[in-house]
Amino acid sequence: MEKLLGMTPPMGWNSWNTFTWEINEELIKQAADAFIENGLKDAGYEYVVIDDCWSEKQRNEKGELVPDHWKFPNGIKPVADYVHSKGLKFGIYSCAGTHTCAGHPGSFEHEFQDAETFAEWGVDYLKYDYCYKPVHIPGEILYKRMSTALRNCGRPIMFSACNWGNDNIYKWIRESGAHLFRSTGDIQDNWESITNLAISQMGKEPYTGNFCHNDMDMLVVGMHGASNDGFIGSKIGGCTDQEYLTHFALWAIMGSPLIMGCDLRKASEETKKTLLNKDLIAINQDLEARGAYVIKPLPDAYNENEAFILVKPLADGDLAIGIFNFSDTQRELSLEFWDMGIPYAAGVSLSLHDCITGEELGEFTEQFAPVVPSHGCVVVRARIVEK
Ligand code: GLA
Repeated sequence: MEKLLGMTPPMGWNSWNTFTWEINEELIKQAADAFIENGLKDAGYEYVVIDDCWSEKQRNEKGELVPDHWKFPNGIKPVADYVHSKGLKFGIYSCAGTHTCAGHPGSFEHEFQDAETFAEWGVDYLKYDYCYKPVHIPGEILYKRMSTALRNCGRPIMFSACNWGNDNIYKWIRESGAHLFRSTGDIQDNWESITNLAISQMGKEPYTGNFCHNDMDMLVVGMHGASNDGFIGSKIGGCTDQEYLTHFALWAIMGSPLIMGCDLRKASEETKKTLLNKDLIAINQDLEARGAYVIKPLPDAYNENEAFILVKPLADGDLAIGIFNFSDTQRELSLEFWDMGIPYAAGVSLSLHDCITGEELGEFTEQFAPVVPSHGCVVVRARIVEK
């Protein structure tokens, strides 16, 4: 089946989490190279996205955006061409307000002009932020403007809205034409931030789906405290590999875009293993892109927000099941099949494939109760079989 633009959550890399304002042509090209060298392209990662701070602080006399002449001395087009020459797609960043969050020119009242510029440069993806938004205009109007401009600029451009879940975005974003929408504030490279973002989106599964995906923010997998920004890096200094795997599994099953944020040139074997997990990627890229519903596991003795089961129905009839333990101790957590609409009387079992170890776990009836490590998860792909 032909995959239309935005049908499944985008996969790629964005410069912000690790490099923030310290970006340049060489770095972006090296990121593209790393997609190929690390097998990320083959695994489905596609977009190389430059975030904020790529432009000069002023537009030119024609009102056009101008690439920073130190960081991008040859302009943006050659960078996009390079990314395309690797068989990848190229993304850039602007803002619905007068300025970007870091104070560069935003696209407010330049929407159609900027869309044309982006198309000329060969842009395939636009992240569109929400800082310095004039108070007298609803954000809804501004996202509709840019969406219309992009849809008519002569080039297919994926539109990534980023208003952090403000202004009832769930009510109007799908019909604006955006392909994905940030629903959360900025992620930080620590466990608390990861779990807070995930918990904040549980129960919002009706709002994600084909062509308009709930974006829980870019991944911090493998950063290990390396951001050059104090806020993102935070004092705690990164996560364990187990926590990064749990983060990746949460984003995968909840249908969030998988936009990497670490320095791909320095990714460790563990980081690559997580980012390249085929079974988790397949769950994320399922063509039906259904949201995952939440079940509380048994025993029901934990504090709220310590243990969750997420279930995502897949296009081939399988169920993706993630059992998450956010607590500080290892726990046995039980999923009752009844809660997924499978009563004992139905006469079926579930054949379980472990998406993290790759093992076949066998057939289970009525319940599945794995021991889940602290800050860890067990993710299985379940196929229904006759008993
Ligand atoms: C906002 C966004 C971030 C990043 C920065 C850039 O905070 O939410 O993802 O794009 O702006 O300034």
